[in-house]
Amino acid sequence: MQVFVIIPAAGLGTRMAAGHSTSSPKQFLDLDGLPILIYSLRAFAQVPEVKSIYVAVRKSEMPRVEAQVGSYGLAEKVWVVEGGDSRQESVANALQALKCEDDDIVLVHDAVRPLIDPATISRTIDAVAKHGAAIVGLPAVDTIKQVERTADGAIITATIPREYIVQAQTPQGFRCGLLKRAFAEAAADGFTGTDEASIVERSGVSVAVVAGSATNLKITQPGDLELAGFYLSQRTKR
Ligand code: C5P
Repeated sequence: MQVFVIIPAAGLGTRMAAGHSTSSPKQFLDLDGLPILIYSLRAFAQVPEVKSIYVAVRKSEMPRVEAQVGSYGLAEKVWVVEGGDSRQESVANALQALKCEDDDIVLVHDAVRPLIDPATISRTIDAVAKHGAAIVGLPAVDTIKQVERTADGAIITATIPREYIVQAQTPQGFRCGLLKRAFAEAAADGFTGTDEASIVERSGVSVAVVAGSATNLKITQPGDLELAGFYLSQRTKR
């Protein structure tokens, strides 16, 4: 059994652009001297079980990312492939590029979660080996409301007990055969999901949850980069 990693990194990062003077997508922004993407690649490259990492980027970014992969000493494990117009398409392109057996494991990780740690990656691999499908999830601490959108905002329609809620993070891991089947079914049905688990769940597969942490944040909005910088400084102090 081999472990492959897919890192979708072809997003445009429009939510971030509002608060930053740069037009660079968020996965290429600088975090304490290194591009965000490089942190994510390094974390996976450090895990001995990981055989190779496929990073999906926009065609125009391929030369720059290939150069960075080389200059940060990651060329042995990392392959750059072309992404698509949605996250799902980017993952599907990478999935096509990697040659895996049905019982191999594929982990998918957002490029914009640079603070993922090797221990959480290893726990996810173990959970996929045991259950066939597993994601990192963060138990909800806030009270969760279901709402109906209105012209003025929203009206609450229900309170969902928070013990039933986890916020899906990444990595999300699956047996390769199962993931390929679920992607083919989603493509045939025209279904688009915001994560891989939702694509696999609709194929009737149970997906286990591994405990995540608030530090594995997704850099999405202005302010997130500063928060990641703070978490990073705490980590290097330890
Ligand atoms: O924009 P969103 O928060 O969904 O992005 C999650 C991840 O998916 C990011 O790492 C982003 O670069 C990636 N993505 C992609 N291809 C797209 C859109 C997003 O690889 N077309």
